[in-house]
Amino acid sequence: MLKDKYKEYFDIGCAVNEESLSKHHDFIHQHYNSITLENEMKLERVIPEEGVYQFDFPDKVVEYVKQHSMRLRGHTLVWHNQYPEWLFKDGDKLVTKELLQSRMKEYFKGIMNHFGDTIYAWDVVNEVVEDKSGKLLRDSQWLKVLGENFIFDAFVLAHETQPNAQLFYNDYNETDPIKREKIYQLVKGLKEKGAPIHGIGMQGHWNLYGPSIEDIRRAIELYASLDVRLQVTELDMSVYAYGDQRKDLTQMNEKLATLQAERYEQIFEVFREYKDVIDAVTFWAVADDYTWLDDFPVLGRQNWPTLFDEKAQPKESYHRIMNF
Ligand code: GLA
Repeated sequence: MLKDKYKEYFDIGCAVNEESLSKHHDFIHQHYNSITLENEMKLERVIPEEGVYQFDFPDKVVEYVKQHSMRLRGHTLVWHNQYPEWLFKDGDKLVTKELLQSRMKEYFKGIMNHFGDTIYAWDVVNEVVEDKSGKLLRDSQWLKVLGENFIFDAFVLAHETQPNAQLFYNDYNETDPIKREKIYQLVKGLKEKGAPIHGIGMQGHWNLYGPSIEDIRRAIELYASLDVRLQVTELDMSVYAYGDQRKDLTQMNEKLATLQAERYEQIFEVFREYKDVIDAVTFWAVADDYTWLDDFPVLGRQNWPTLFDEKAQPKESYHRIMNF
């Protein structure tokens, strides 16, 4: 079982939703010892209306992780996507700075205190770094209303709310040479200002052809040099190259399976090498029967990014990372 094999290295997690948890109820706790909710802790789900919290599914997951002695990650408190409409509104107008700050205080408490210590790590801020070269931060409602200090303030607030929680900055394209430098500068700046930030989440939405092992290694070393913990938070390996919009592949074939297995093997070799700084590697699905990549970037195009096939049977990729 995955989690046992990696016991001395790092936690092995997966992202779940209501369907995958019920379908793979036993399978999940056999292989994985950490869970992230794919969507159900995002603000649009948790606080659909101001002051109205929805914890039905998250609470079921809390029971599940307790029953199986697993760890639970919180995802995510500040993000430019999947937020409820009311958050940035004040009547018909854009919310004011003061109101948004007080709403943040409210919902950080409402969400974080609901879970208390059960959630040991939070992705406090997700994806605020701009991909393109030039400016550091992406345009967002957060930036527009609060100015760039919202990132620092979010970490301070999260720490005040749950002082024991490990607090992460999480992002994608985290190995890209331009973006990784920006992520590095952002976190470095936060630390210099004294922000309670403990880790960087490298999402790891990768594919068969990139990023290179060298870029992965460089990113790990650069981030680790900031003296923060690292987690790979959303690992999957698309069988399509970045930007490939074709829809002609209708099933996984042997050539791709081998390529994927080789990539997983190389990537996990690097992860193991850096076990002193990496605390968890979380896959962004349970098995190939369901993954967000079936609808992204091409709607209805199947993908096979995990270690387990559509029947949750181990693929070659699984065997490769188990044999070391
Ligand atoms: C980002 C977010 C995740 C998820 C993925 C796609 O990486 O952090 O919550 O939405 O995109 O599923």
